[in-house]
Amino acid sequence: MQAHTRDSPDYRDVGLEFPAGFLIGAATAAYQIEGAATADGRGPSIWDTFSATPGRVVDGDTGDVAVDHYNRLDADLDLMADLGIEAYRFSISWPRIQPTGSGPVNEAGLAFYERLVDGLIARGIRPIATLYHWDLPQALEDAGGWTNRETAYRFAEYTRHVAEALGERVHVWTTLNEPWCSAFLGYGSGAHAPGRTDGVAALRAVHHLNLAHGLAVQVLREVAPRAQVSVTLNFHVIRGADGPDSEAVRRIDALANRSFTHPMLVGGYPDDLIDDTAAVTDWLFVRPGDTEIIRQPIDFLGVNYYSTTRVRMWDGIAPRQRADGHKDVGGSAWPGSDDVEFLTQDGPYTAMGWNIAPDGLEELLLRLSREHPGLPLVITENGAAFDDELSGDRVHDDARLDYLRRHFTAAHRALQQGVDLRGYMVWSLFDNFEWGYGYSKRFGIVHVDYETQERTVKDSGLWLARLIEERRIPE
Ligand code: NOJ
Repeated sequence: MQAHTRDSPDYRDVGLEFPAGFLIGAATAAYQIEGAATADGRGPSIWDTFSATPGRVVDGDTGDVAVDHYNRLDADLDLMADLGIEAYRFSISWPRIQPTGSGPVNEAGLAFYERLVDGLIARGIRPIATLYHWDLPQALEDAGGWTNRETAYRFAEYTRHVAEALGERVHVWTTLNEPWCSAFLGYGSGAHAPGRTDGVAALRAVHHLNLAHGLAVQVLREVAPRAQVSVTLNFHVIRGADGPDSEAVRRIDALANRSFTHPMLVGGYPDDLIDDTAAVTDWLFVRPGDTEIIRQPIDFLGVNYYSTTRVRMWDGIAPRQRADGHKDVGGSAWPGSDDVEFLTQDGPYTAMGWNIAPDGLEELLLRLSREHPGLPLVITENGAAFDDELSGDRVHDDARLDYLRRHFTAAHRALQQGVDLRGYMVWSLFDNFEWGYGYSKRFGIVHVDYETQERTVKDSGLWLARLIEERRIPE
């Protein structure tokens, strides 16, 4: 193993201390854990439709039952309290609040989130609520989904309903989770719901998601002025096989990263993104005034990080490589950049086939802090899937524990270098429905037996509890 010097970190430091006020917790999302798909008037979402379609999700799994969190709320809240988590990041299911995506509030659905938020507060856990974690009401998809500008306005109305009810009881409001996935996996590659494969539709979706974010921030400022407001993006940390400044790096950075950060934080779409995609779209779906709506001050930027991406330009002769498990998402996922290759990276890998690269997290935090000075950051997701085994009443998930230790170390290194990093949410609190992979991939720090719904805290969960208690990275 490499010696640990400042220049060649092995990211396994122990004893590093996190400052008071640095929030440490865990994250989930509604469709991945709640189950109770038709309870209390919930309407269908695009993920209900998608997962019920044969061939879309591994083993035909669906979120119908998931980890039955909807019916086990109180016990799950007690479990969070036992772990000592300081914040809990969850998402609100739009089709529970408005079963068809518009119209009056379904009070029975809203009541679940009232109980959740109050239950967190009663246990001293800060609620971090995401308004959109991919479960679009199916009725809105039937009208065009995120390719339809109207969806952004429906989202603002839904935001108003939820914010009027929960308001400042929620410590942090997050508008969208990983809009890149919603747009490019949902409408470009088809790997996610609604499963469309149209690169131009993906770009329209990018814009309407950005617009939805801007409109929702305006609503939240008006309705819950003392709550914090944020958005969570999944950044691609891109390694250029032909060097850090290669054409391939610039292209994928524009499509995956700057297509959201630029409109949200700087203003408008980057010129190079418009040029790169000129053959497929004229971007006329961007209307006058949209730039101002989208660029809203936020209180922090949520950062989801798992692994890195390695690219180069395709020579057009050799078979085109699309080796990166996570991002090998088909031709139309990268509109205007089909000639970029995604290359296999060095291991080690998680069960998702994603490379483990804590240096990518440090690099990303430094970049964001440099490019957006004054904007605090929170790691809203980081974690790993491994093939865990329950032995008796323990899960010895050493690989996940090691993954987390390295990434917490990387985050700490960023803090030491002056990054204004305010918190760290581990993905995920529970094993759960991992989208197209169904229940075949386990990300939890708490194991779930899907037959009995029994919860067992894994060694990584015990380790996180110690970290929170001691405020320093344990062995
Ligand atoms: C990103 C998503 O926000 C979450 O829903 C997903 O389960 C994890 N990352 C792991 O893929």
